[in-house]
Amino acid sequence: MNKKNRKIKNIDENEGAGILKRFGVSIESNLLDEFDSYIEKRGYKNRSEALRDLIRRELVSSQWSERADEEGAGAIIIVYDHHQKELVNNITNIQHDYHDVIISSQHVHLDYDMCLEVIVVKGKIATLFELEAKLKVIKGVKHALLAKSTLGDKI
Ligand code: NI
Repeated sequence: MNKKNRKIKNIDENEGAGILKRFGVSIESNLLDEFDSYIEKRGYKNRSEALRDLIRRELVSSQWSERADEEGAGAIIIVYDHHQKELVNNITNIQHDYHDVIISSQHVHLDYDMCLEVIVVKGKIATLFELEAKLKVIKGVKHALLAKSTLGDKI
């Protein structure tokens, strides 16, 4: 990372999360060795940055599993064979039913048969799970995956 980028990054950190605070952590030496090895492999510059990312990841994960009434954002990826006309109709109808939580979708023709769609979603977490479940169970959908992200306002 060059000097210019580093400066921009620090400004972002301070604006997004307020004042940086320090705290002490007691940790077993073998666990710390494992953590240092983990962060080195992933290219983190220091333990603080790696720890912040782990905390954010865990907070987002717990929001999705424990606070279904809150707002979340993410993307549903589905892969299917477009030659099955009823399947394509089903997918379209379901997306129209959930138009209020679908921000956009991108359709990619993977090859002669298969299509991949990325459906960007934002809304109540329970509703996003519901949409994922409805798409997943359609016969002919080969793969469906909800990438669970965040609006970023609390982390
Ligand atoms: Ni296609």
